Amino acid sequence: MSTQSVQSRRAFLSGMAALGLSGLTGCGGGGDGVTTHFGVNMGGTGLPAPGVSGGGALRIPQMLSGNTLTAAAGNYDLGGGARAGAMLYNGLWPSPTIRSAAGGTLDFTLHNQLSEPTNIHWHGLAAAPGMDGHPMEVVATGATRRYQFPVFERPGTYWYHPHPHQATARQAYSGLVGLLIVDDGNDAQRGLPTGVRDIPLVLADKRVSNGALVYQPSVMDMMTGWMGNVLTVNGMAGPVTANVEAAVIRLRLLNASNTRILNPALADGARFWLIGTDGGLLAAPMAVTSVLLAPGERIEVLLDLRGDAGRRVRFISAAFAAMGNGMMNGGMMGAQPFAPPHGNAFDMVELVVAAAGGNPGGIPTVFVPIARLDPAASSVSRVFELTELNGMMSGQHRINGLVYEPARIDFVVRRGIQERWQFINRGMEPHPMHVHGTHFQVLSRDGRESLRLATDFGWKDMVLVRPFESVEIALRFVVAANYVLHCHNLEHEDDGMMLNFNVV
Ligand code: C2O
Ligand code: CU
Ligand code: CU
Repeated sequence: MSTQSVQSRRAFLSGMAALGLSGLTGCGGGGDGVTTHFGVNMGGTGLPAPGVSGGGALRIPQMLSGNTLTAAAGNYDLGGGARAGAMLYNGLWPSPTIRSAAGGTLDFTLHNQLSEPTNIHWHGLAAAPGMDGHPMEVVATGATRRYQFPVFERPGTYWYHPHPHQATARQAYSGLVGLLIVDDGNDAQRGLPTGVRDIPLVLADKRVSNGALVYQPSVMDMMTGWMGNVLTVNGMAGPVTANVEAAVIRLRLLNASNTRILNPALADGARFWLIGTDGGLLAAPMAVTSVLLAPGERIEVLLDLRGDAGRRVRFISAAFAAMGNGMMNGGMMGAQPFAPPHGNAFDMVELVVAAAGGNPGGIPTVFVPIARLDPAASSVSRVFELTELNGMMSGQHRINGLVYEPARIDFVVRRGIQERWQFINRGMEPHPMHVHGTHFQVLSRDGRESLRLATDFGWKDMVLVRPFESVEIALRFVVAANYVLHCHNLEHEDDGMMLNFNVV
């Protein structure tokens, strides 16, 4: 943790003491069996020893071989040795990566050997009816289900995870999260790094106490979302080290955190290139110095390390201004005193750069233009108001006043018709909103095109809606099926911040 944040914590603490607010610890509910008195936090970082130190070599998730995914209890290894208590696909921590041919068929059979129902959602793919991992289409303990549908999406970085009603957060957090890379075999032709220069990084903050993974959200945690004190990179406690060539390298980043927004950046603030978002490549690489990455979002970036042989280059999640009631997430005043506040910096990966063997590559200048969906062509408009109550009961997070009801169809969309949706955040919490079944384009933020973020220039299936912000998107569905729309803060989702819609 940076000196600056320690200082601001201290300043904040003395302010709290002056206000006589120490009673707020009462709602701390640390949940991990660690005393949550402010006094414990007074010195140092205020965080309990995670019990794992990070610094190990980056682990690359295995490629899935075969067509079977077996979900079962298993061991996790954050770098400090194996421990029981995870949920795994095929016994692997981290979960295997699926590589799917663009234009091919996805065909996997899930065997559920967990002691509870589960299912698989193919995040970012427009699954055929019954194949999307709808919250109510679950696979019972001991049962099996075959998922099979055509993959027509653009090449890009997608992912898969469970989606059972009210159990998504815990199952995903426990290890059931993998990448699904759609590949058309043309990346080398596009001038993009492939093979060992194409590095997947699944990022997720975890609460780790004495080496043990903890997930015990209190009512308060359900309100803010669960935050961790360790940023894991492909299942290892960060920061990790990775040996790379002095070349242009590609990172595929997934923020698989339940709640924490990340802000990938080079530690020295140097520029790098955003080349892809949730739904594939941008029209052209875009120079950036940091990119906000909300839970559920993916980006692909290029780092130009051609001049860095012999150096160590740190790729981090840079500090950012906490939004809205970000203070409630972690931090002294938050529901989770042992998680650094939202917006704190984390080390992620240290790239140990050695001379390149062969052509170091370059930064491509252009990919394929993205045809803009003309906002005027949208014949249907919908507004989704995002609200939170401040009570201590479930169902506080709502969309248009509604708490998710599995059997209720909240709206019907006609296939092939372009729609314009507006998300209006009426509250103090950031909501990364996700639409199943299609990709969309972000038209504006607070009514202005100029306020769009870098990731808003690509195809999206996720969009971060910050406190009191409104975001407009344009979209069209091509597959008729039952889908959901929800907040990808997984505690919010499980709390009911989700609606059903049918595409007909
Ligand atoms: Cu990645 Cu409905 O979720
Ligand atoms: Cu999804
Ligand atoms: Cu939310």
